[in-house]
Amino acid sequence: MQERIALVTGANRGIGKEIARQLADLGWQVIAAGRQPAAIQMAAEELGPRVMPVVCDIRRLDQCALAAALVESRFGRLDVLVNNAGIIGNQAATAFDLDQMAEVMETNLNGALYMTRAMWPLLLKSKDARVINISSGMGSLQDIARGDYAAYRLSKWSLNGWTMLLAGDAPPHIRVNAMCPGWVKTDMGGPGATRPVKKGAETAVWLATEPEIPSGKFWRDKAVIPW
Ligand SMILES: NC(=O)c1ccc[n+]([C@@H]2O[C@H](COP(=O)([O-])OP(=O)(O)OC[C@H]3O[C@@H](n4cnc5c(N)ncnc54)[C@H](OP(=O)(O)O)[C@@H]3O)[C@@H](O)[C@H]2O)c1
Repeated sequence: MQERIALVTGANRGIGKEIARQLADLGWQVIAAGRQPAAIQMAAEELGPRVMPVVCDIRRLDQCALAAALVESRFGRLDVLVNNAGIIGNQAATAFDLDQMAEVMETNLNGALYMTRAMWPLLLKSKDARVINISSGMGSLQDIARGDYAAYRLSKWSLNGWTMLLAGDAPPHIRVNAMCPGWVKTDMGGPGATRPVKKGAETAVWLATEPEIPSGKFWRDKAVIPW
């Protein structure tokens, strides 16, 4: 079988690094994207020869375009894009923290959009392409009415909505899904989180590798969950 090629954003630590590790262990070629040159270089070295680092702040259109140019010149196509990079925003809706709202939306929603736009021509060249948006149950309509973590919830709710729109418009050979990793022990999840990072990466790797999966769904633990 032809070698599969994946790009993971925010791959220098946390869930993104673990997704990159697991895909590389399966024999994939992985492009690990990170915004800090030294950190992404170090992570890629640790993950081994199947992992190539690329510097990319997902908020920067020019850096997304450069990352796409690099993938194009090295591999000519992309099979899987994992939009993992994200930040938290913990202010409640009534705090009206506009700076936090803008910053979190710019990363968690727009960053995923910028990166996907840059990679789209390369995904079109794959016979079996996937876009996997790492969302959160905190952006589920079932959970959103609380109003705490407003910027984060809105960004993930919006990312889910955009996942549905993109899936609805993508050609059949590009499957687009969102997933929640659960509450994972990372810098973002904190030490009290219930899941090890290995488990947090599991469903993303499954969505990347499973031969037959639907498109336009929201997943946790390899099962569809409500938007
Ligand atoms: N941990 C959880 O419990 C949990 C639960 C549900 C969903 N999630 C989602 O899972 C994803 C990964 O979370 P995590 O727990 O692994 O978080 P993390 O440990 O805080 O790691 C976040 C990663 O995103 C990167 N990043 C942030 N802004 C970026 C930007 N503008 N450009 C490029 N990279 C950027 C960070 O890079 P730097 O090192 O440069 O900051 C880091 O590599 C996020 O989308 C998060 O919302 C996590």
